[in-house]
Amino acid sequence: MAAAISIRGLTKKYVDVWQKQEVIAVNNLSLEVEEGEIFGFLGRNGAGKTTTIKMLLGLIFPTAGDATILGKPMGDNQVKQEIAYLPEETYFYDSMTGWDLLDFYARLFRIPEPERSRRVRMALEKVRLQPEAWKRSIRGYSKGMRQRIGIAQALINDPKLLFLDEPTSGLDPIAHAELRDIVASLKYEGKTVFLSSHQLADVEMICSRVAIIHKGKLLRTGTIKELISGERTEITVQGKELQNGMLAKLQAIVPEVHMDGEDTLRLTSDDSERVAAVIDLVRGAQGKIISIVPHKRTLEEVFVETVRKEDNTI
Ligand SMILES: Nc1ncnc2c1ncn2[C@@H]1O[C@H](COP(=O)(O)OP(=O)(O)O)[C@@H](O)[C@H]1O
Ligand SMILES: [Mg+2]
Repeated sequence: MAAAISIRGLTKKYVDVWQKQEVIAVNNLSLEVEEGEIFGFLGRNGAGKTTTIKMLLGLIFPTAGDATILGKPMGDNQVKQEIAYLPEETYFYDSMTGWDLLDFYARLFRIPEPERSRRVRMALEKVRLQPEAWKRSIRGYSKGMRQRIGIAQALINDPKLLFLDEPTSGLDPIAHAELRDIVASLKYEGKTVFLSSHQLADVEMICSRVAIIHKGKLLRTGTIKELISGERTEITVQGKELQNGMLAKLQAIVPEVHMDGEDTLRLTSDDSERVAAVIDLVRGAQGKIISIVPHKRTLEEVFVETVRKEDNTI
């Protein structure tokens, strides 16, 4: 598959005029995003997500490095016809209606009637904005409705690639879930989505691959499966025999063994062979296995671990 975005050594340094300090917002970032995937770009506030997106869109210039977008150099004018951007903070002409705003953007792309009206209607339906709000001014829209209009605006030129900067932040749970599903559905229309977010549960649900950046640096990248691979299994065993040297034998296999009452042990391991060895040992000693509970790791756990580890090594 072709790369929709290919980033090589992208770097952005800001000079903080007050502190007379240099801030490295993005530090030598290299990354590939494949066509047709929803790619999660993850990082804490200030990690460098927005700065990266703005460089890719040609809105700000990199200090070093470069990137290609849909095979062309970033900032290329032809590419701008094929990409779309939903900024983190959207500012609309509040006095316009939702319909008129989309019509305005469609005109910017020189889409003629009747195609223009068809596109506006399709975009509004796609983002599930209630029809009664189409002809109302945006001033009265809720945050969720504004985000819907923002995504509709991004869809108006039928882009191949969308940059969405934290599209689900600050929404109520219902609007949040609906917008997440709308973003997820773009994949089935063959679009590529570069999704910046720190909503890790969303990302785990809808992204195929992710990158974790921290203080401008890429810490990890891979498929969600690769990142959250490895289950933790908790085994609870019981038996009087446990006292007769069993504990030491189990500890030799799994370091994490906790006594739970007089004759019950709880062990945790993320290694399936060790889990099997524990089960064999307990059965061989006529012990009783009370429960075997697998715990799936979450993207949130992986994210927190990755970022903490990095902070501790600095
Ligand atoms: N225009 C700017 N001038 C100076 N520093 C900036 C500017 N824009 C962003 N930064 C700094 O760059 C870093 C990355 O910011 P940003 O890309 O907005 O992060 P994110 O979108 O991940 O929250 C932060 O430390 C931020 O303070
Ligand atoms: Mg940001």
